Amino acid sequence: MTDRSAPPLRSYGRLKARPIKPRQAALMATLLPRLRPPAGPFDPRTLAPAAREAWLEIGFGGGEHMAAQAAAHPHVLLLGAEPFLNGVASALRHVEEQGLSNLRLHDGDARELMARLPDASLARVFILFPDPWPKGRHKKRRLIQADTVAELARLIAAGGRVRFASDWADYVDWTLERFLANPTFRWTAERAAHWRLPPADHVTTRYEQKRLGDCAPMFLEFVRT
Ligand SMILES: C[S@@+](CC[C@H](N)C(=O)[O-])C[C@H]1O[C@@H](n2cnc3c(N)ncnc32)[C@H](O)[C@@H]1O
Repeated sequence: MTDRSAPPLRSYGRLKARPIKPRQAALMATLLPRLRPPAGPFDPRTLAPAAREAWLEIGFGGGEHMAAQAAAHPHVLLLGAEPFLNGVASALRHVEEQGLSNLRLHDGDARELMARLPDASLARVFILFPDPWPKGRHKKRRLIQADTVAELARLIAAGGRVRFASDWADYVDWTLERFLANPTFRWTAERAAHWRLPPADHVTTRYEQKRLGDCAPMFLEFVRT
């Protein structure tokens, strides 16, 4: 039997890599408190006056993709979750520089945030280049597990989508297997170009540029049926 009271295994690496620059530290002190979602359960669609739907990015890294999507889609409320402090600091700089008001940041584990959201409250979820945990004994730390997929199925409204990208071939196979095992998701690909080429609205991420994986970046898109 699954122990539902046990916290999920840590799926991220370090929380801080280098000292936060003074300007970013100032944003952490002033802007971040204003961008944090409410404590306790909340409906993300109510957080911005113009929001017609809510999207979530899990592990936004430096925030460049999340900020670009928020800027391109002013009618969407973008929720971002990232425990890595230097990433959060960098994302705050994007928010300030681009004057974004349709974005909320959770500086912690996305799974804590997801547990506070109502059923069918998200239209899109991005999981871009998650920590690969390539060693066999570490795979249980991967963010994509059957229970994460089940939680996404709860949160995404019918017709909504999840985008997963990775440049680790084994993680792509692993993810495909777990989404295909959940009958509420359908993989949208019809030919190889659909997973080999970035989708038209993709924004290249910092980690993607590093090419640290063992294959070219691959993109999986799943629809919530
Ligand atoms: C390899 S980095 C990629 C970052 C970014 N998506 C990119 O492509 O540049 C993976 C990120 O996911 C974050 N992460 C891992 N587990 C997470 C979780 N449970 N909730 C939120 N973020 C998580 C890590 O802290 C890390 O910054």
